[in-house]
Amino acid sequence: MAVPLLAADPHSCARPAEAAVRHLSLDLTVDFASRSLHGTATWQLDVQPGATDLWLDTRGLAIEAVTLADGATLTHFELGDDDPVLGRPLRIHVRPGEEQISIRYRTAPDAAALQWLSPEQTAGKQYPFLFTQSQAILARTWIPCQDSPGIRFTYDATVRGPQELLALMSAENPQALSATGEYRFRMPQPIPAYLMALAVGDLRFEALSPRTGVYAEPVTLPVATAEFGDLEPMVAAAEELYGPYRWERYDLLVLPPSFPFGGMENPRLTFVTPTILAGDRSLTSLVAHELAHSWSGNLVTNATWNDFWLNEGFTVYFERRIMERLYGRSYADMLQVLGQTGLHHTIDELGKESIDTHLHLNLAGRDPDEGLNEIAYEKGNYLLLTLESIVGREKLDAFITKYFAEHAFQSMDTAHFVAYLRRELLDRVPGAEEKLQLDKWINAPGIPAVAPPVQSERFASVEAALQSWRHGVAPAALDTAAWSSHEWVHFLHGLPEHISAEQLQQLDQAFGFTQSGNAEILTAWLPLAVRAGYHAADAALAEFLTRVGRRKFLVPLYKALLATPEGTARAREIYQRARPNYHAVSTSTLDTLVGKPAGA
Ligand code: BES
Ligand code: ZN
Repeated sequence: MAVPLLAADPHSCARPAEAAVRHLSLDLTVDFASRSLHGTATWQLDVQPGATDLWLDTRGLAIEAVTLADGATLTHFELGDDDPVLGRPLRIHVRPGEEQISIRYRTAPDAAALQWLSPEQTAGKQYPFLFTQSQAILARTWIPCQDSPGIRFTYDATVRGPQELLALMSAENPQALSATGEYRFRMPQPIPAYLMALAVGDLRFEALSPRTGVYAEPVTLPVATAEFGDLEPMVAAAEELYGPYRWERYDLLVLPPSFPFGGMENPRLTFVTPTILAGDRSLTSLVAHELAHSWSGNLVTNATWNDFWLNEGFTVYFERRIMERLYGRSYADMLQVLGQTGLHHTIDELGKESIDTHLHLNLAGRDPDEGLNEIAYEKGNYLLLTLESIVGREKLDAFITKYFAEHAFQSMDTAHFVAYLRRELLDRVPGAEEKLQLDKWINAPGIPAVAPPVQSERFASVEAALQSWRHGVAPAALDTAAWSSHEWVHFLHGLPEHISAEQLQQLDQAFGFTQSGNAEILTAWLPLAVRAGYHAADAALAEFLTRVGRRKFLVPLYKALLATPEGTARAREIYQRARPNYHAVSTSTLDTLVGKPAGA
């Protein structure tokens, strides 16, 4: 049977049915002085009979020359019109049977995927740092490529940088410094362009098990290895759930705090924010999440960004199953309830009838980075939880395992997934289709009524404490001794919207929220302080916003400030100072929200 044709990708100019990339050989020099990468990208191709052109995505790249397989013969190329989001299509003339082309190019100093950090922006403060963030469509700002999640390729790379720095990629990685600053990489498993990744910095490695380990700046490494002590058991739990880990090694790279996401599932080397180094392992579900992407996302990949829920919904479900295996059902249930809080908040924000609350999105003509939201994560997870409640875990787990195995190293769109789910599961369980109401999940707003309630036994003590507090019990007298950060976050979510500064002051005095080293607690606490005008937290807020670049934290904090004229002035003042520390992913959102500072 022919492979079914997947949905077209509205965010890429690639025409893989004419000419598709198969393997990349990258040769790059990292120049911190000019803040640019330069070198060559050599692509091995599959050119179909009768095809005349290879179409690649680029954005902001200076294309210097394109040569044929001999590396010398120049071939004709053309750059199309520039689109602020999609960039410029690069059309390269290819002849029938052409197997390889090389592109000599240079990246722009403001390439959106790249963040060039000065030494002061790192933990060690001595060496500069570079990292990439390619998802969703930023790979094209550092590599001319077919930047569509439905197109996969293998790669090898040579990267040259300053001698004192280590270079790492989403590939087989070095574990020690080279003498020359030159590193060679090999990635034998095919991946889509959004999983291309590079980091260069003062980094060291420490093993956690024969196949897992951590890379971090020297001062961060001991803290990080302690925090991630359960990494090997996590990988083992994931394999027990849904089949073998297909990428050989699984390492973590702890980035400087300006990293714009919590984590990014770059194959073999998950990138993580240092804001999960809470000291008590309380935020490691994020690692379980990125690890789970080694199956949902990296192995079976959303065909386009409209199908993003296939990556993230499965990953959230899988993440919580891993956490349940390691820490028990009552732990995982807390994560489910916190996820539900986020889901309802997102639905309220987007609007109950918004088409952006459908699982299958329509992002054509929009920047996928602005259209991808929590719905894919939590509504996607909720669909799987509902399915679990209908068919039972045994059948669902067998289905998921088979789904990953049968589509490994392929992509999947929503329509083909729906057909597969019906054939392999729903049609075999009488009544399941009627109960689930699949089409409502996928193509309608909000949450279908069939969804089972999500509850947490451990949060009962939080509800009880909130109740006592509302009845006038002093904060210090509340029974909070056994709480983890999750209980605290749930407690903060449960405080009334119109709480007074004086009440916050009492809570702060008893529990020290303003001084918390836990970024999730701070992000739940600080907006309360802003809204109530509790100024004792002002300095902590400004410090957090200038140090941390994780968009998920920045957005609610700036939004809280922007709610009043006085807060707006503070937001603008802080943003002006903090912006140089943020990655383009965060500034593109915040420029719209806060306003781009003059001269930036
Ligand atoms: N793949 C995502 C990050 C992402 C999504 C980058 C869309 C660019 C576009 C990653 O797996 C992720 O979901 N990270 C979350 C953490 C997670 C625990 C929900 C984050 O960064 O907050
Ligand atoms: Zn994810």
